[in-house]
Amino acid sequence: MRIRAARHDDLARLVEIERAAAEAFRSLDMHLVADDDPGSVEELAPYADAGRAFVAVDADDRPVGYLLLDLVDGNAHVEQVSVHPDNARRSIGRALIGQAASWAGERGLRAVTLRTYVAVPWNGPYYERLGFRYLAADEETPGLRALRDRERGAGLDAWPRACMRLSLGAGANHRRG
Ligand SMILES: CC(C)(COP(=O)(O)OP(=O)(O)OC[C@H]1O[C@@H](n2cnc3c(N)ncnc32)[C@H](O)[C@@H]1OP(=O)(O)O)[C@@H](O)C(=O)NCCC(=O)NCCS
Repeated sequence: MRIRAARHDDLARLVEIERAAAEAFRSLDMHLVADDDPGSVEELAPYADAGRAFVAVDADDRPVGYLLLDLVDGNAHVEQVSVHPDNARRSIGRALIGQAASWAGERGLRAVTLRTYVAVPWNGPYYERLGFRYLAADEETPGLRALRDRERGAGLDAWPRACMRLSLGAGANHRRG
């Protein structure tokens, strides 16, 4: 497995990965999340053009997971990280989060942030193991609060969600696998 920048000819596969990965939420009766719009090639293209989309590829250079990054309030923000269930639990997600940390570090950014479900085993508890910590509501920056409001509009906050932050640089505790 290696990680490279996403190309336009990868993007249809990324939509497939997203749809397949979201199926995991059905096991927790989170059907709204499983059925959430997986996005489109058109929505992914700007991330690829901006160099903020990365794919984990197999030996045939076929994407099996991907990472989308935004810049939110001066930090790298994980807009999406997904691994195809056929390739799950092989540390690909961990490597993609490592890529987010490297990307941020190379740009002198201080942290990686994300929003996720607190009680889903492969979300909040998983990111905690990767070194993220939960932000209290009053620690959320305006851009993170705006993302929360957008999720509310889509009904995705029917289950507890929170912001998490991985601090980089001095004192950082990200564990690279
Ligand atoms: C989150 C995700 C990217 C992790 O990818 P991954 O490559 O499987 O993760 P890793 O191999 O690095 O870590 C696996 C760990 O995640 C947790 N995990 C993954 N899938 C799990 C599942 N179905 N049930 C419980 N825990 C799970 C476990 O802690 C697991 O460790 P273990 O295998 O030692 O028990 C992947 O599960 C995914 O795409 N999920 C659906 C989409 C999603 O939730 N994206 C994040 C939105 S914020």
